[in-house]
Amino acid sequence: MEQELILETDTLITSKTDLRGRIIYCNKDFMRYAGLMEHELINQPHNIIRHPDMPKAIFKLLWNYVKNGKEIFAFVKNKSKNNRFYWVFANITPSFDIENNIISYYSIRRKPNPKAVEAISKIYAQMQEAEQIEGANAGIRILEDLSKKFNKTYNEIIFDLQKDFQ
Ligand SMILES: Cc1cc2nc3c(=O)[nH]c(=O)nc-3n(C[C@H](O)[C@H](O)[C@H](O)COP(=O)(O)O)c2cc1C
Repeated sequence: MEQELILETDTLITSKTDLRGRIIYCNKDFMRYAGLMEHELINQPHNIIRHPDMPKAIFKLLWNYVKNGKEIFAFVKNKSKNNRFYWVFANITPSFDIENNIISYYSIRRKPNPKAVEAISKIYAQMQEAEQIEGANAGIRILEDLSKKFNKTYNEIIFDLQKDFQ
């Protein structure tokens, strides 16, 4: 049975990656929740903490946004050591040099609204089911349908889900 770790209200989990998504910096909270030490994380691809319940489409969208110079918000279930997991509300942003070239990516994660996690886990389960049959685009279509239904962008939906909590 997997055990859930719940973030403290003042927890801020941060990491920085190179252009390929390899971890080049992470803070103490990152190590604490991942259950890994700095030398086990630095230079490793960020999917080292990927949880199998996460739909492919979320990461596809994440990379599309940041590679195009845009920030993205997401609820992410991450894997920790010893069969544990933790949910985060994440903001991922590109960092630019003075000529406006993207030079790295940065992420800051905090405690998610528990109500949002409840809602989003159901959506992620639906997305994974669709992805198993038709691939990541089927997951993206579910998100696009939600955007149409609520007449909001993906980021607006995610941000609104978190909002009431803070
Ligand atoms: C700044 C940054 C932070 C990321 N944070 C996470 C994270 O917390 N958890 C995660 O599973 N993937 C994270 N990713 C996405 C991973 O790079 C990767 O796309 C994802 O784990 C899926 O791995 P896969 O495509 O190999 O299946 C992050 C990417 C960037 C650029």
